Parts: sequence; structure tokens; C-alpha cells
Amino acid sequence: MLLKPPFEGAHIFPKTKRRQWYYKKRFIIPISLLMAIIIAAAIVGSVLGTRSRTIHQVDYTKVKQSIAALMEDKDYVDGNYGPLFIRMGWLASGTYSQNDSTGGSNGGCIRFEPQSTWPVNNGLDIARDRLESVYRDYPGLTYADLYTLAAAVAVEKMGGPTIKWRQGRVDFKNGKDSPPSNRLPSASQNAQTIRNIFNRMGFDDREIVALIGAHSLGRCHKNRSNFEGPWTLTPTTFSNEFFRGLLEDTWEERNWQGPTQFEDVQTKSLLRLPSDIILIEDPQFKIYVIEYANNGSQFATDFANAFEKLLELGVEFSGTY
Ligand code: HEM
Repeated sequence: MLLKPPFEGAHIFPKTKRRQWYYKKRFIIPISLLMAIIIAAAIVGSVLGTRSRTIHQVDYTKVKQSIAALMEDKDYVDGNYGPLFIRMGWLASGTYSQNDSTGGSNGGCIRFEPQSTWPVNNGLDIARDRLESVYRDYPGLTYADLYTLAAAVAVEKMGGPTIKWRQGRVDFKNGKDSPPSNRLPSASQNAQTIRNIFNRMGFDDREIVALIGAHSLGRCHKNRSNFEGPWTLTPTTFSNEFFRGLLEDTWEERNWQGPTQFEDVQTKSLLRLPSDIILIEDPQFKIYVIEYANNGSQFATDFANAFEKLLELGVEFSGTY
């Protein structure tokens, strides 16, 4: 009661009857409008932002040219990234399981941990780094498409068959949907284990042998897999030399400080992994090794079909070839 002012207006800060400026109509309307515009812009921006890579039209013919232009490089340890691009396409796709339809190249998870750090994927960061400029140059291109297209381009550019390739893979935002780490084969597994792994992807014996024929290209690097050496004398030319060498050369275990691998007795310069040798030890696999050693064009045809199938495992396409 004592605090009651003795007369109206006796406050130190007298109450004013005037309304605050921001209650005035001429402020309320533009401010509300401005806020509405900001909110709408934020919504539209976020929708377009997440889709911006898919609404662009990508010229895949040009993408292929850009990839091809990146393959040869005298500063790269092997002079040609082609074999590494093929290995990446294979390892990105070979995680597929037809049992639960998970894995495969869709999502591009191979660029994220944990998948990027699986030992079997050692060295693939070199391929991804090499391809990064292509990703940046073509808005709308996804990593998942890029990694598989690079593999297809590499086969063709190194004298192999044309690989039919379709776009449509999306990129996941992180690696939380990566498949389990034990789905890819290791070079020291036996024939039946390797068969089971490829069967899980949906491949039969003929396709398995054709696919492993990719080892006519490239080589093993001690610092990536612990294995060392090339499979053929022409590691940047697609051929059936891998099969011919398996049958025509004599292979014995290499005596060295490393995991079990085989070398040709004659020159001791070529390698076969234990998982390559099983292709002549297993009678069912050997049928196709003989066929491909004798018929290079049959190998090229079968490889193209199996590789195309591999790169598409688990991908839902809306478009056509
Ligand atoms: C049983 C199945 C397979 C095993 C155990 C296996 C194992 C390996 C290993 C250990 C390397 C050496 C990696 C390095 O040190 O750089 C390698 C390289 C390679 N693999 Fe396979 N691989 C298999 C199937 C395949 C398939 C299906 C393809 C393709 C269709 C493929 C394509 C390649 C290529 C092109 C390279 C050479 C990479 C380079 O030169 O950088 N491999 N593989």
C-alpha cells in the first residue's frame, strides 16, 4: 500500500499510453512478411539443398571422358590407375548379399568409415582421391555412380569389352548402413568358401571364374595387401593371360617373408594368390579356366556380363541403359 503512488503519473518512469513501436501495423505487417519469406526460403533451400545433386542433368559421356583422362599418370606408382579403379568398383559392389538385399555399390558407403578402413579396402583412398575432381566437375553425379562407372571405363580403356553401365545409385550421408565387414573374400580362403561368398552375391561357377579373370590386370602391392607382384606381363591390357598363365606355367610357393603366394617357376616374376590357384585345383572351376584360356573372346563376353551384374547388385534403377 505504501508503494502506491500518491497521484497518477507519479512513477519515476510514468506508464505511457502509447503503444510500443513494434505493435504498430506498419511494422507488424512487413516484419511478419519478412519472417514468412525467411521461413519459406529455409524450407525450399533445405529441400533443394539435399536434392541439388540429383536435379542436375549429368552428361555421362563427358564424365566417362574425364575418368579416362585421369587414368594414365607417370607419377602414379603403376603409371595407370585403371586396375585400381576396377578393384574399387568390385570391392564397392561385392558386399552384396541376396539373402537380405543389403550391401552393394548403392550409397557409396565405401568412402566412409568403417568400410573405408577395412583392410581389404587398403589403397582405395588413392582411387577416390584421384576421382574427386570428376565428382566436383559434374554436379548431380553421385560418388556411388562415379566409383562404378570408373571401373567400367577402366575395363574398356585397357582394351576390354564394353561394360553396360546405368546411372541411378544414390549417396548415403554416412557409413552407418555399411554392410558387415566379413562379406568380401580373402586370398587365403579355400575354394568352397570363395564359392559360397560369390554365391551369396548371386554368381555361379562360370561367373566366378570370369570375374576373377580381372586379375589379368594390375598387381599386388606389399603396402596394401601384403602380397606382391603382377599376375601378367601386360598388367594394363585386358586379356585372358591370367588363365593361360595358370595352365601353362608351373606355380610354386614363393619363399619369402610374406603371406603364402605363388610364383612362376620359370621367371619368378609373376604371382598367383592362393585364391587364384584354387581355380585350377577345384575341378568345377577348372572347366572354365580351360575354356577362357582357349577362348579369349568368350572370356571377354562373360566378363562383361558378370561385371555389369556385379556393379548393379542391390541397386534399384528407374532409368534404362
Ligand atoms: C576371390 C576373390 C578375390 C580375391 C581374394 C582378390 C584379392 C586381391 C588382392 C589381394 C589384390 C591385391 C591388392 C593390392 O595389393 O593392391 C587384388 C587386386 C586386384 N583385384 Fe582382386 N581379388 C578377388 C577378386 C577380384 C574380382 C572379382 C575383381 C574384379 C572383377 C578383382 C580385381 C582386381 C584388380 C583389377 C586388382 C589390381 C589392383 C591394382 O593393380 O591396384 N579382384 N585382388
